[in-house]
Amino acid sequence: MDKLRVLVIGSGGREHTLAWKLSQSSKVDKIFCAPGNAGTALIGKNVPIGVEDIAALADFAEKEKIDLTIVGPEGPLVAGIVDLFNKKNLRVFGPSEKAAMIEGSKAFAKEIMVSAGVPTARYVVVTSMADAEKKLVGFEKAAVKADGLAAGKGVILCHSKKEIMDTVASMLEDKIFGEAGSRIVVEELLEGEETSVLAFCDGANVKLMVSSQDHKRIFDDDKGPNTGGMGAYSPAPVVNGLEKRILDEVMQPVVDEMKKRGIPYKGILYAGLMISGDKINVIEFNARFGDPETQAVLPRMESDLVDAIDACIDGTLDRIELKWKKDSACCVVIAAAGYPGNYSKGKEITGLNNAVAFDNVLVFHAGTLLKDGKIVTSGGRVLGVTGIGATIKEAIDNAYTGVSQIDFDGAQHRTDIGKRALDRL
Ligand code: AMP
Ligand code: GLY
Repeated sequence: MDKLRVLVIGSGGREHTLAWKLSQSSKVDKIFCAPGNAGTALIGKNVPIGVEDIAALADFAEKEKIDLTIVGPEGPLVAGIVDLFNKKNLRVFGPSEKAAMIEGSKAFAKEIMVSAGVPTARYVVVTSMADAEKKLVGFEKAAVKADGLAAGKGVILCHSKKEIMDTVASMLEDKIFGEAGSRIVVEELLEGEETSVLAFCDGANVKLMVSSQDHKRIFDDDKGPNTGGMGAYSPAPVVNGLEKRILDEVMQPVVDEMKKRGIPYKGILYAGLMISGDKINVIEFNARFGDPETQAVLPRMESDLVDAIDACIDGTLDRIELKWKKDSACCVVIAAAGYPGNYSKGKEITGLNNAVAFDNVLVFHAGTLLKDGKIVTSGGRVLGVTGIGATIKEAIDNAYTGVSQIDFDGAQHRTDIGKRALDRL
């Protein structure tokens, strides 16, 4: 069989990690990344097409005879990139537009969970202030969520009835999240420890990946505003022993329910879980790989990623076995000063070669750009440094050894990535 020409869509740390993992496959010949970053340019060829320009991406895939396209972010999935590629007989990995609504609409996700009997917080959907007055009786604390995609920012945690009503008004009337907030999910607050479990799905079968835990807040001790994710480690000890239940009580029921509704789920299903003792609740689903979870999870995957993806597309996931390494992994994100607010770009990054010279240190680029022969910053989250180790402690130490080599003006990172895992030992 001819070797594959693969296109990865996206430009973050997740996409660099996907390209890195693909580059180890004996089945892959050439890797393209649209639009990519300075890291993906080291592995393959960057293509200057934005992730939302799905027509141009399809034209590129056709013209360049791409054998397989892997979609990183949610935007193009919810916009129907998979349907478009399929219509053109282009092989693509990810859920259809309808199936991606599990991330694209929180109300839809909740409805699926309730139908499938998947444990999740009690909720109501409101679309007007009068609706809110009626339905929010009894809610004293709540997560108020814009129904649609709001770049990961559409959730506000409220601790009084007044705060809930004010937040609902800011979404419905002041449109702080635009159209995404014209329908709102209000749900009870859950307590416990958050974790991410991702799974490969082929429309009927599900195979879990190893667990991970993200760190959403910008500062140590989970202080400050939410970000896209400041670091992740794998495995997450909070999940220990719960894997089979997560498969049987969360993932498989959702995939079964989607199939029953005629919208089979093919792609990565990401469950954001709240775990408290032996209680498992779903906070959200994403229709894609997590970022930075991928930077901690894929380095632990021993199997060929192309085999797993092929099995998902072909509906043969039950016929393969996924192998994972025993090692632990920890990814520390280095971000630009000011992130997640305004930040400047174009700062020269030094020490990258020193960092990758260490065994057990991997550097995944996110917001980076090659400019006049230098690698400079071009985004909020700039790099993810992943340490690998026989224990989570070693993985954390290796990650921070890598981080200590790297510098740019205003670089910031958390110093406590993985602390929860250490505390549990
Ligand atoms: P989401 O966009 O749904 O992931 O929500 C963003 C963050 O809000 C989550 O990572 C949680 O930390 C928090 N969150 C969302 N829903 C709840 C809930 N029902 N209870 C407690 N925290 C929540
Ligand atoms: N790390 C959170 C996400 O990918 O949505």
